[in-house]
Order: sequence, then C-alpha cells, then structure tokens
Amino acid sequence: MSEQVSYQDGALHVERVPFARIAEEVGTPVYVYSASGMTARYRALEAALEGLPVSIYYAIKANSNLAVIKLFAGLGAGMDVVSGGELARSLRAGVPGSKVVFAGVGKTAEEMAFAIDSGIHQFNVESEPELRLLNEVAASKGVVAPAAIRVNPDVDAKTHAKITTGRKENKFGIDIARATEMFELAATLKNVSLRSMSVHIGSQLMDVAPYRAAYERLRGATLSLRQAGHVVDHLDLGGGIGVSYDGSTPPDIADYAEIVKDTVADLDCRLSIEPGRYLVGNEGYFLTRVLFVKHGAERRFVIVDGAMNDLIRPTLYEAHHEIVTVEESPAGEEAGLVDIVGPICESGDYLARGRKFGAVAEGSLVVLKSAGAYGAVMSSNYNSRPLCPEVLVEGDSFRVVRRRQSFDEMLALEEGLS
Ligand code: LLP
Repeated sequence: MSEQVSYQDGALHVERVPFARIAEEVGTPVYVYSASGMTARYRALEAALEGLPVSIYYAIKANSNLAVIKLFAGLGAGMDVVSGGELARSLRAGVPGSKVVFAGVGKTAEEMAFAIDSGIHQFNVESEPELRLLNEVAASKGVVAPAAIRVNPDVDAKTHAKITTGRKENKFGIDIARATEMFELAATLKNVSLRSMSVHIGSQLMDVAPYRAAYERLRGATLSLRQAGHVVDHLDLGGGIGVSYDGSTPPDIADYAEIVKDTVADLDCRLSIEPGRYLVGNEGYFLTRVLFVKHGAERRFVIVDGAMNDLIRPTLYEAHHEIVTVEESPAGEEAGLVDIVGPICESGDYLARGRKFGAVAEGSLVVLKSAGAYGAVMSSNYNSRPLCPEVLVEGDSFRVVRRRQSFDEMLALEEGLS
C-alpha cells in the first residue's frame, strides 16, 4: 500500500496538501484523513477477495465520520454497526438499513425496534436472552427479524488482551458448541429467522493463522447444523485484520483470502466480512502542535496541544504511533529520547514515551501516523477539551468534515444552573 504522506520541498504533505496549511486554516489538534488512501485500501481488499462470494461491511466503529461512511458506501460497502447511534449515522450518510448489519453484545429493545423500522439486513445476536428479546420486539411489530448468532470459537487471536474477543473467557458470542441448541430454539420462535452465523475473534491480528482455526470451526458447525436439518446460507467472518503501526510487516490480505477460500468458500453460503481498522487505520493522521519543550530531571518532555482525550490508544493499549515532524529537517539541538505528552492532568496522558526524536522546536507541528482507526471515535471531552476537528484530504484540496466543537456546544447539554 503506497504511503499517502511524503515530504515535498521539505514540508510533510498528505496527498498534495501540506499539513501546515491544514494547521493554519483549521487549527490544531486535528485529525486528517486521506480519501485516496481509504479508497485504495477498499479496492485492494475487494481485489484480494475477487471470485469469492464475499461482501464487505465496513465496521464504522473504527471511524464513523459521516464523510468516511459515505466514501465507503460510494465504493459499494455495507456497514457494520454496534449501536443505535451508529445506525443513525449510517442512515444519515445515505446508507439504507438493508445494507447495515447490527452487531454488539448488549442491544436494547429500543435499538432493536429502531433497526427493524430501518429495514436492517441482519442482527448478529450474542446470547439466548437477546434472541428472545429480538423475537418479542419483532412480534410487537408483526415482522420476522433476520438474525445470525455470533459464535465464540475459543480461538486465541494473539492480539492485545483488551481487543481479543474469541476466547471462552471473553464476553462475546455464544459457545460454538451451543450453536445447534440456538438454532433449535430459534425454530420455536416465530418472529426471528436464524440462518446465519458470525464470528469475530479480535482486532489488530498481525498473523492470519487464528482465522484459519476459527473458520474451520465455523465450517464444522455449519455442517453439523445442516446435518441436523437447519438451513445455514450466510456466514459473517468478522473483522480484525491488523495494520502496521511501527513499520513491521502487516498481514497479507491475499493470505487471508486464501484462508477464506480453503475453509468456507465451498459451503454454498453468502459470506461477509466486517473490517474496520484495515480500511482506515493507516489512512488517518493526528496533527498536533508543540507547545513547550520541558527539561525534566530525568527526561525531556515535548508538550503538545493534542492529548489522551483526543487519541487514547497509547494510554489504553500501550499503542505505538509513529511520530514525524512536519518540517523535514527542523532546526535546533537533538532532542534525544523524549516523552510526547498532552496538557491533561494525568501521568497517563502521553502520546509516546521514550521516543527518539531529532530537533523539535516550540510552535512546530508533529504528526502521529496511523490514527485513522479508533482515534477520533474514542475521543472525549475530558478536562473540558472540545472535540477536535476532522479533515478529509482529496488530491490537492481538503475539507473539514467535522468542525471543532465550541465551548457553547460542549456545554449545551447541561442544565445544572437553573
Ligand atoms: N466486528 C466486530 C464484531 C468487532 O467487535 C470489531 C471491532 C470489528 C468487526 C472491527 O474490527 P477491526 O477490523 O477494526 O479490527 N479500540 C481498539 C479496537 C477495538 C475493536 C473492537 N471491535 C483499538 O484502538 O485498537
């Protein structure tokens, strides 16, 4: 995948737009996305899966900006949502409910009703009580809700503990050994139609081998269900394909496609996948400005105007994001090993620790790479910092696809003074 950032005449650009221009016009901190990068990712995945009966449902939790949803919808993707709010976003971006799958371990009756009213394509159900509730909600509307059960295959995705989901001890899915029981139950429920299974074993998988193990189990379950007389005509293979954050080699999507082909492609099922990070992770950047360089007793701190409320991944998952200066060869003395930290009142507020850095001057701009997935979507108003803007770059132009929140907007929901 070709990088969408490069130094041109000594200044870092994304596609053909200088980061400095974005900072000047929109301010910092700001998220910057490359439309060409995201499009190239989608096309690459589509090409790798060519010839297989696979549809792509973009997991919008990774980056649910309306412009990003619209971009992928325009390329032909359906959407994978996990809340009423995400469904509302998809609809607002012009995606019909019939192209949306509703996943998630704790859907409310209201969310189910909203999804049914929107003509949702499929509910991925994660427990027996959820299946019963879905049946009730659908009955109250006089419809039959299309459902899949999410099975837990007990496969170790070998990723960070906070984002692994396919082990028995995780809260996700239904033990795959109980699949037949669930299909039998569904057969007694008049208002759900269960003909599908889904699986998702975790996020940021850097090795595709666990997919093979999971899909083989899915295949086994499909065959036994059919033997027991049940119809299974669709399998949702989940998301989780990892991307490189530090220059290490990412998984090859051709290998992933090969696994799909070897394990489930001949089952005469429609297949779908739910990638999030793969499509957007490397195609977004977090642009922030250096406020101060502070010489602590033990180390040097580069204090920037972006913080853990804007990008929480380093704090929450010890995630590594490459950091580069916007000026190719900034003037000044070598900074050596630095901690890059934000203004928030917590020692956990860092974007990088012990990072080797060249010269970095107060007032200069730095870019955290690979911030397109689980960046802006996980931001908060902590320390009463307004949500930062998001910008979409296309060729030599860019547009603000979320403007900076004002103080008034941040305070608008509170009524404590009356
Ligand atoms: N499908 C399901 C059921 C999921 O739970 C997820 C992600 C996806 C698809 C998309 O996974 P992806 O292709 O993006 O790996 N905030 C964490 C990642 C959390 C992932 C949650 N589920 C991070 O920043 O690394």
